[in-house]
Amino acid sequence: MSAEIIDGRKVAELIRNSVREDVEQWVEKGNRPPFLQVILVGDDPASIVYTGTKSKACKEVGIDSNTMVLQDTISAIELKQIIQDFNQDDSVDGILVQTPLPSHLSKYDVIETIDYRKDVDGFHPMNVGRLSLDQPCFRSCTPAGVMELFKHYSIPVKSKHAVVVGASDIVGSPMAVMLSRENTTGKATTTICNKYTRDLTAHTINADILIVAAGQPHLIKPEMVKEGAVVIDVGINRIADETTEKGYKLVGDVDFEGVKKKASWITPVPGGVGPMTVAMLMKNTLLAAKKSLYPG
Ligand code: GUN
Repeated sequence: MSAEIIDGRKVAELIRNSVREDVEQWVEKGNRPPFLQVILVGDDPASIVYTGTKSKACKEVGIDSNTMVLQDTISAIELKQIIQDFNQDDSVDGILVQTPLPSHLSKYDVIETIDYRKDVDGFHPMNVGRLSLDQPCFRSCTPAGVMELFKHYSIPVKSKHAVVVGASDIVGSPMAVMLSRENTTGKATTTICNKYTRDLTAHTINADILIVAAGQPHLIKPEMVKEGAVVIDVGINRIADETTEKGYKLVGDVDFEGVKKKASWITPVPGGVGPMTVAMLMKNTLLAAKKSLYPG
């Protein structure tokens, strides 16, 4: 068997196109364009790249955005005051604080300051809590993007055994909640593995749907995967490669070449889940502007 490839670039483009059309209609009705306020603290190189990608995507779909860059010495009080000012500002629909934050700032404390109605990342406890109750909320973009891939490719989830490897706040945990709890798109039997899981293979081998977000290059080998499984690789790892111009290449958490011979569906890295994250952020920002989730 050779797996069908899940083309995240293509699906992300379809989503961006649909958001662009919706934004156009929204503006034609006399509304201002949606506005996303991005906050970047410090100069983490990966965060600079990510926020740049987000602002470019906004421009492409007709969403206005601004990235405020703050010194990494900013105090929690100052940062929270800035966020509170954006909370009060009716011209700001979505607020996103790029993580990681410098070590003197607590990400939980900072995120909780964001008005949950503007929390387009879906990281605020109100959104995380509502997600776990299957109530309307902003959903974390990466796992929401994975659910969108299942929908696009008509990959059934209900009653399947889904195994999530990785239990992070922004991918593994909300992913497991979506798979297990969401009424229309989920209802899988779900196992969450973390770094303390004793025999990882004993779990992964039973997965009809295997989602890997562990941040370990090539963690998942063919012998760990059930014949015909759907394999979703959320990992993006840089590994040294002197044959490339940049001196590195991007690989996922799955041994793609080996595992694709056993899987029925598989996402590549790059070009799988990655592009979906930003597309879902665009979708969330439009929902925020329209006040679709929290009308009050
Ligand atoms: N850091 C890594 N991924 C993300 C993300 O999706 N949103 C934010 N705010 N920070 C991140």
